[in-house]
Amino acid sequence: MTHDVMIDIQDLRVKFGNHTVVDGLSLEIRRGEVFGLLGPNGAGKTTILAAIQGLRRPNAGTILVDGLDVAREPFAVKRRLGVQLQKTAFFPMLRVKEMVALFAALYEQFPSPQEIAALLARFGLESKAEARPGQLSGGQQQRLALALAVVNSPTIVLLDEPTTGLDPQAKRGVWGAIERLRDEGRTVLLTTHSMEEAQVLCDRVGIIDAGRLVALGTPAALIERHAPPLAAAEAARREPNLEDVFLALAGRRLAEPAEDYVADAA
Ligand SMILES: Nc1ncnc2c1ncn2[C@@H]1O[C@H](COP(=O)(O)OP(=O)(O)OP(=O)(O)O)[C@@H](O)[C@H]1O
Ligand SMILES: [Mg+2]
Repeated sequence: MTHDVMIDIQDLRVKFGNHTVVDGLSLEIRRGEVFGLLGPNGAGKTTILAAIQGLRRPNAGTILVDGLDVAREPFAVKRRLGVQLQKTAFFPMLRVKEMVALFAALYEQFPSPQEIAALLARFGLESKAEARPGQLSGGQQQRLALALAVVNSPTIVLLDEPTTGLDPQAKRGVWGAIERLRDEGRTVLLTTHSMEEAQVLCDRVGIIDAGRLVALGTPAALIERHAPPLAAAEAARREPNLEDVFLALAGRRLAEPAEDYVADAA
């Protein structure tokens, strides 16, 4: 059976102790879309991705992945997912090509050396097949994490800040790789702090603040609906963008410290 909603989150609630981090989130990610989860630091994005993977048990709510209940069928769900975590721990003694082979083997796949080379080339790592993780730059490690995330040909790919810290060229390379995943019919759920990236890459975005969904739609629709009017001088120079929307809806607490905070600092 196929499902048009590939990730179906209903009334999700996650607490750490007394702290409610995801506060009644309902969100449906559609087949074949690139969906961007936006939100300030600590908004709950990584926690939501962990819950989708079954790594973080919700306090309430349900998550279906391709129609499968994450709580009931965690292994079947994991087989459908490819994941790039915000921080990836690699095996320090393995070479890059060995790591690809190992990750593939975890999914009972045994790619040929040519297939491994092709996967690495796709992420600009063709010259690093023999390197160990400690010999890769930060951006190269991130691209390796992305390569490992798609090693099992997942139908759904979860990417936690896939381009943070990348140089402009590497970032474009990752964008291209993500577009290719979409072209192949896969569903991509990513988080990002780059509003430019969200605007360029995502079919739809959801803005999360303090564990709640505060806006949902295509970047164009959100700009249309939520971007505050620009001052005349600024309007002459540029169009309203997704960053305006983000700051209006979610960035307030950072942009304008609360009164008591200011008082404490004085
Ligand atoms: N293991 C944990 N134990 C306790 N609190 C946690 C734990 N993991 C996350 N939190 C808290 O949950 C909240 C949400 O964290 P989360 O990592 O989901 O945010 P995020 O939106 O991914 O932020 P960022 O943009 O900084 O990556 C934060 O307040 C964080 O301190
Ligand atoms: Mg995070």
